[in-house]
Amino acid sequence: MSEGISEEKASAASAALRISGLDVDYVAERGSTRVLSGVELELPQGKILGLVGESGSGKSTTIRAALRLLGGNARVRGSVEVCGADVYGSSPGELRKLRAEQVALIQQDPHNSLNPVRRIGPSMCERLVRVRGVDRAMALDKAETMLAAVGIRNPGRCLSQFPHQLSGGMLQRVVIAAGLMADPRLILADEATSALDVSTQAEVLGLIAEQQRSRNLAVLFVTHDLHLAASMCDTVTVMYGGRVVESLAGRDLFDTAEDPYTRGLLQATPILGGTR
Ligand SMILES: Nc1ncnc2c1ncn2[C@@H]1O[C@H](COP(=O)(O)OP(=O)(O)OP(=O)(O)O)[C@@H](O)[C@H]1O
Ligand SMILES: [Mg+2]
Repeated sequence: MSEGISEEKASAASAALRISGLDVDYVAERGSTRVLSGVELELPQGKILGLVGESGSGKSTTIRAALRLLGGNARVRGSVEVCGADVYGSSPGELRKLRAEQVALIQQDPHNSLNPVRRIGPSMCERLVRVRGVDRAMALDKAETMLAAVGIRNPGRCLSQFPHQLSGGMLQRVVIAAGLMADPRLILADEATSALDVSTQAEVLGLIAEQQRSRNLAVLFVTHDLHLAASMCDTVTVMYGGRVVESLAGRDLFDTAEDPYTRGLLQATPILGGTR
């Protein structure tokens, strides 16, 4: 076997997320609507993949389909592997375990990720205690450590607070800390910083990047900010109309994009302090 082929096999084996030929249709009484067609993505462990494209191009649907979180009216074809597990071939119990142990989902509005009437401590510990059977006191200790790691100044106090008592930036840090509680291998960040002000955005992005590096995480990073995608991501995949248009190295995004849609998207991207 040639060295090239064995390297290819090693990288294929270590993919944190692999999506092949993914079609999604939403079925209604009057017929069905195709929202994803033949989507292909491969995210190796330890890498950051940016997903960009105009509103409605299918980015969030791709993320939700990857975790089998689409509603009952969605018809899904194709295959999704998360950390080697076949998402659509898993039993409900296996799927719950996979989601709880391998993946952190960070969405745009942190309020949607936390139960508004539960204190932060029990919310953060729930998955670890329920799915993994970790002792509650140990889980609370870990939650306190994780809150400190994401820059919460008084983690002990934070554990006893309710979500509405924290600012949006603080709450998004809590969601990240909660997602990291089970030591996941994959972060799915769907516009995780879009609802935050610019300086908080930068801090939370720095935090995601730092956690990605120190824990060798794979990150699927959905954003509308092409400059951010180019600077932060190893690879950037462009979607349009439910299809993947092209995938490029992040550092080459602005120079080598060939597809007319990608070029249009790049040209429509404002740059501060001048013209391109
Ligand atoms: N439950 C649903 N039933 C029918 N169509 C849906 C449903 N959810 C999403 N869609 C459609 O799927 C398409 C893709 O939506 P999606 O939310 O994935 O886009 P997006 O790229 O994440 O957009 P944005 O950048 O605005 O978040 C859209 O046309 C949307 O209207
Ligand atoms: Mg979306």
